[in-house]
Amino acid sequence: MSNTVKITIQPAGKTYSLLRGTPLKDLLFDKGLEFPCGGRGVCHRCKVKILNGSNNPTAEDQKAFSKMELAEGWRLGCQCVADNDMELELLSCESIILVDDTSLKFEPRNGTAIAIDLGTTTVAAQWLDLESGKLLGTATALNPQARYGSDIMSRIDSAINHNKGAELTRLIRSCLGDLILDLLKKNGASQKPSFILIVGNTVMHHLFCGFDVTALGFYPFQSKHLAGWHFTTEEVGWNFLGPDVNGYFMPCIGGFVGSDILAGIIATELHKTTHPAILIDLGTNGEIVLHANQKLFCLSTAAGPAFEGAKISMGMRAEAGAISKVRFKNNKFETEVIGGGKPRGICGSGLVDAVACALEHGLIKHNGKLNCLADHIEIQDHIRISQKDIRELQLAKSAIATGIEIILKQNALDYPDIKEVWLAGAFGNYIDKQSAKKIGLLKFDLEVIKYGGNTALLGAKICLMKWPEVLEEINQILKISEHLSLGEHPQFQSTFLNQIQF
Ligand code: FES
Repeated sequence: MSNTVKITIQPAGKTYSLLRGTPLKDLLFDKGLEFPCGGRGVCHRCKVKILNGSNNPTAEDQKAFSKMELAEGWRLGCQCVADNDMELELLSCESIILVDDTSLKFEPRNGTAIAIDLGTTTVAAQWLDLESGKLLGTATALNPQARYGSDIMSRIDSAINHNKGAELTRLIRSCLGDLILDLLKKNGASQKPSFILIVGNTVMHHLFCGFDVTALGFYPFQSKHLAGWHFTTEEVGWNFLGPDVNGYFMPCIGGFVGSDILAGIIATELHKTTHPAILIDLGTNGEIVLHANQKLFCLSTAAGPAFEGAKISMGMRAEAGAISKVRFKNNKFETEVIGGGKPRGICGSGLVDAVACALEHGLIKHNGKLNCLADHIEIQDHIRISQKDIRELQLAKSAIATGIEIILKQNALDYPDIKEVWLAGAFGNYIDKQSAKKIGLLKFDLEVIKYGGNTALLGAKICLMKWPEVLEEINQILKISEHLSLGEHPQFQSTFLNQIQF
């Protein structure tokens, strides 16, 4: 018996040779399958279908699928092992990764540089000509650490409790190195960038820089490694760039508020407004920054994965096949599906729309209970929203709404006092602001709400255009920033309960 087996992945139709007995997780991850629970067999969101070949169902498969589904070949990708030749169907497709194409104001300077937005789920890099301001190229990737869990808390858990800190550091440095190589190759440029600037949340900052994340895993979640980190290409294994290229990971603001938010402040010029203004980055972790009284008040709030489709029975990330918009016309739901065709699931923006429509038309009560005998609402074809999904959304929206409410109250402000609201982050940019208002996620006047795009990447590019003078502006922002710890706030519990209602 040969010690290798052939694994064919559909719909790409590509075949790979693997050592017999190798877990399929790494191959499937590289081909786009996500592992939200880090492959622990509990989230049931890494489904694959075995079209040919066999794979004995594990105990986790038996919990995840009915007998009929198991007979049809459904398995959890994280549990599959390459023990015979197999043909698998993978439903995950290319993710939509938000980049930036804003034209920048700048003073020409020599050379080129790369800005990188290092996110928990996705990574985006852009190469800039600092003399002309021209964008030389863009490269994106999924964060390879996602095989250890989809959110920052599971990465911290992997680092602390499963001794994977060094591996997470290696994975992300190598991913960013590959992105840079990709940019250089794609553009066939003979020149090299002279500088690499990275922004990211506090956990990404620590893991890239190789800092211990233990302090971020326990109350009061305060790390002493928040400063910016200058690095050489040799230190991070990017020797292909040579020793004369330098890099810098921008500093974190505090707690879980990282340099992606710092860059967002620079991109939106939040620190320069003459009226109260707010920046809200919506994702699994919501970060909120308020500029008022010549200070920047910031906090982070754990919204959980509902906005990214996880923990929602038919939820998925915003990728091909996801219902991303929902309207209610002539007594039925109308939807938009990313990439067209039949829907495979519903992403965060679709879920918010669907619940907003259902609320407006009396299908859901304001306490979140379904106003019918069934335990779900049918949206389209087989895509439905269950009572449990609505509860998950209530928890996520309450976490964000609580953060906003507390940061405003702390500064004796009310919603109409805010004259500018910037939405950022992958979810923030796709959410419909009217639906967000209907479910009580955002209570501001609609006219003041603006979509900021990828403010982290834009902010990083603005910094490159003003480097190194911008360091003074960064220090000034850090000086006027005050981090609030939401969990310790005396009104947190009561506010959270109040915000649960739609
Ligand atoms: S069950 Fe969660 S990643 Fe497989």
